[in-house]
Amino acid sequence: MKIAIILGTRPEIIKMAPVIRELEKRQENYFILHTGQHYSYNLDKVFFEQLRLPATRYNLEVGSGSHAEQTGKILTGVEKVLQEENPDLVLIEGDTNSILAGALAAVKLHIKVGHVEAGLRSYDRNMPEEINRILADHCSDFLFAPTEKAKAILKGEGIPEEKIFMTGNTIVDAIYENLEIARGSANAVSALGLKPKQYFLVTIHRQENVDNRARFTSILEGLDRVAAEFETPVIYPIHPHSRKRMADFSLQPRRLMLAEPMDFFSFLQLESSARLVLTDSGGVQEEACILTVPCVTLRDNTERPETLEVGSNILAGVSPDKILNHTRLMLNRENKWSNPFGDGKAGKKIVSIIMEGKHG
Ligand code: UD1
Ligand code: UDP
Repeated sequence: MKIAIILGTRPEIIKMAPVIRELEKRQENYFILHTGQHYSYNLDKVFFEQLRLPATRYNLEVGSGSHAEQTGKILTGVEKVLQEENPDLVLIEGDTNSILAGALAAVKLHIKVGHVEAGLRSYDRNMPEEINRILADHCSDFLFAPTEKAKAILKGEGIPEEKIFMTGNTIVDAIYENLEIARGSANAVSALGLKPKQYFLVTIHRQENVDNRARFTSILEGLDRVAAEFETPVIYPIHPHSRKRMADFSLQPRRLMLAEPMDFFSFLQLESSARLVLTDSGGVQEEACILTVPCVTLRDNTERPETLEVGSNILAGVSPDKILNHTRLMLNRENKWSNPFGDGKAGKKIVSIIMEGKHG
């Protein structure tokens, strides 16, 4: 069986790495097609280097652009490669424009599609990711649901049960494989002059938050108030998109420590030693839960409801008052919850399912 792995952004590289590692271990016939959606060194190559991933066979170098422009370029680029390579299966992960275009190109060529992290729903169609994940799921033949909840969502949308496999989330594999290495090799906490459990970590990059002047202003005001109230350093490794918007809107948060986007080991170290995380990232909500670090999500909804149910996460929205109150609330909560995202063997399970053709 010949497999094409299609990826294009930071979280896809990190979360597909356990699947790639398993394919390598079994010496399967596969290749990586990078769309080039992310191209800055610290959003892309650094993860290939650090996670020791094999080189990509193709890079479409599509870069940034409007949704239609980016998705369209990926669609035509992927189609060309798939026609040349003629794989039996395309594997995608998550909810970006890269994976929607990858899934669509493949399904139209009658190539089977496997979607890692299937069945997540925020029920907010204003998010580009929600459209991407719904359409990708409905193009797929193998749907790798991270939780029972995700599996139930897919069944509820009429996807035949024999196509759905509950595997856990590969982010657990990525953390289990890398946390100790990260702790041993990175010194991000001390390099920033921070002390374990005496700082808050922030990531904010969602389009609906940073492209909207009022929402981004409100979030930064809330974070400034959190830093002041708790007299605690707040470190924000900032995505280039958010940095650009901050400049466009002339926003200057007074109390936040801004840093460049981090490599995975540094970020894991910083995250696991943080007293609390404030984020709008999907992956960071999961990681905080797995690392037993309390999380305040600066959104009105989440496609990771398992984190709310186990008590690791709370939705604060973007009002400064709520950000402050919800931070207080989470700091008073006991960090005792169990990880709902699986046993760290998702990568192995996914590859076994594909290779054994357990598919209806
Ligand atoms: C994309 C995904 C989002 C995911 C995020 C992971 C979509 C619709 N969005 O958002 O779901 O959470 O990746 O980080 O697919 N830029 C750079 N260097 C890069 C890439 C982007 O500077 O390597 C800047 C450019 O100014 C670009 C902007 O970031 O215009 C947005 O990039 P884009 O890929 O469109 O979306 P992300 O915000 O990265
Ligand atoms: N991450 C990282 N460096 C950073 C910020 C995040 O390595 O400076 C990692 C983080 O550990 C997680 C992933 O990037 O695994 C999350 O990606 P992101 O927030 O960009 O996307 P999302 O998960 O929201 O799609």
